[in-house]
Amino acid sequence: MSNTTDPTKNYIPGLEGVIAVKTEISILDVEKGKIIIRGYDLIELAQKKHYTEVAHLLIKGHLPNQEEHEQFVNDLQNKGKVPSPVNELMRLLPRNTHVMDAQRTIVSFLAGFEDPEFLKDTSPEANIEKGTKILARLPYITANAYRELNGLPIIDSHPTYSFSDNFLYMILGKEPDEVSREVFDKTLTCYVEHEMPNSTFTARVIASTLSDIYGAITGAIASLKGPLHGGANEAVAYMLLEILEKGGASVAKDYVKEKLARKERIMGFGHRVYMRKYDPRAALLKDYIPQLIDRHPQGKELYEIYQIVEETMKEEKGLYPNVDYPVGLIYYLLGIPIPLFTPIFLVARTAGLVAHVTEQHANNRLFRPRVWYVGPEYRPLD
Ligand SMILES: CC(C)(COP(=O)(O)OP(=O)(O)OC[C@H]1O[C@@H](n2cnc3c(N)ncnc32)[C@H](O)[C@@H]1OP(=O)(O)O)[C@@H](O)C(=O)NCCC(=O)NCCS
Repeated sequence: MSNTTDPTKNYIPGLEGVIAVKTEISILDVEKGKIIIRGYDLIELAQKKHYTEVAHLLIKGHLPNQEEHEQFVNDLQNKGKVPSPVNELMRLLPRNTHVMDAQRTIVSFLAGFEDPEFLKDTSPEANIEKGTKILARLPYITANAYRELNGLPIIDSHPTYSFSDNFLYMILGKEPDEVSREVFDKTLTCYVEHEMPNSTFTARVIASTLSDIYGAITGAIASLKGPLHGGANEAVAYMLLEILEKGGASVAKDYVKEKLARKERIMGFGHRVYMRKYDPRAALLKDYIPQLIDRHPQGKELYEIYQIVEETMKEEKGLYPNVDYPVGLIYYLLGIPIPLFTPIFLVARTAGLVAHVTEQHANNRLFRPRVWYVGPEYRPLD
């Protein structure tokens, strides 16, 4: 039993370093420490643009002018209303459902509301239309699935708020202040797109069978849930709180050292691509933490713990924070429930996923790799 290609040469566990896709969407320029989105630096975009402008850049291919931006924001508002059976489905979710699983179930469910011909249409126009609709609906679905699962009343979209303000409003159940809105919008932009993480790859693999965008995004949600991927931002908050409970800043260093001695991972550190460098998104977002620490009685100490863990990881392992590290603390200080951290990441990333599915369908090659078979040799049945 043999392959035409030599598995000892071609087997690359985890596809590390493999170029699987030719894309115009984004690249991690590790040398320059930049995340490039359609030619722009993501950090510059996060500093100067709103999430919806960057989402437009990804989905429609260019940064919008003021009129196009207003049109896109209106479009997201108008398309945001979900068919009423979605509310019924949310009520049927088993109480223990993770919000990521609620998102996965509901995005899959929404496919059935499309005209069957339009659902299977893989043209860029159809994908952009369907993708924008999925993005528009996800804030309502995410906030309200959480609310329903936790016995809180459903909250309708705010009639005038922008995409991210409305999302935060539905999560918190109250009008967010200016600082919260600004920081939240920046976190969404930092999450919007990141080249070829597992979830984006998953979406492209599914799309490559010419399956529809709902299926591709449903698969990406399942991928993003994993603790080695999007799930890390929740894990960061739990870790910082655990250190606080065990004695706070004075025990933080030993906590990290003991975990490392047990060969355990510290969530929010390391990255497959820029393993030994500072994730530029983490550097940008960290600067917003000091203005939030007064919002929580233990905010100051949590930030102290945050800094000690970061220093210890640098000293002990030469590892730096990735984006999930500051986000874990920022969302906690904004008063966002921890089970919503990864679902929020998914909502933000949907713009990137739509761009990738659209690109995959527009220039498709079915993904179908081979294996290094190490099972038994051929044996005839008795
Ligand atoms: C993201 C991640 C999965 C990438 O891992 P990877 O490319 O598979 O790298 P490896 O698992 O081969 O790790 C390489 C080395 O760094 C160590 N390492 C990597 N991330 C680590 C972490 N967060 N904590 C402790 N050690 C870590 C590994 O133990 C290994 O050390 P060794 O060579 O001494 O055995 C990994 O860094 C991780 O698990 N991070 C925590 C989860 C996280 O924050 N994910 C969000 C990513 S945006």
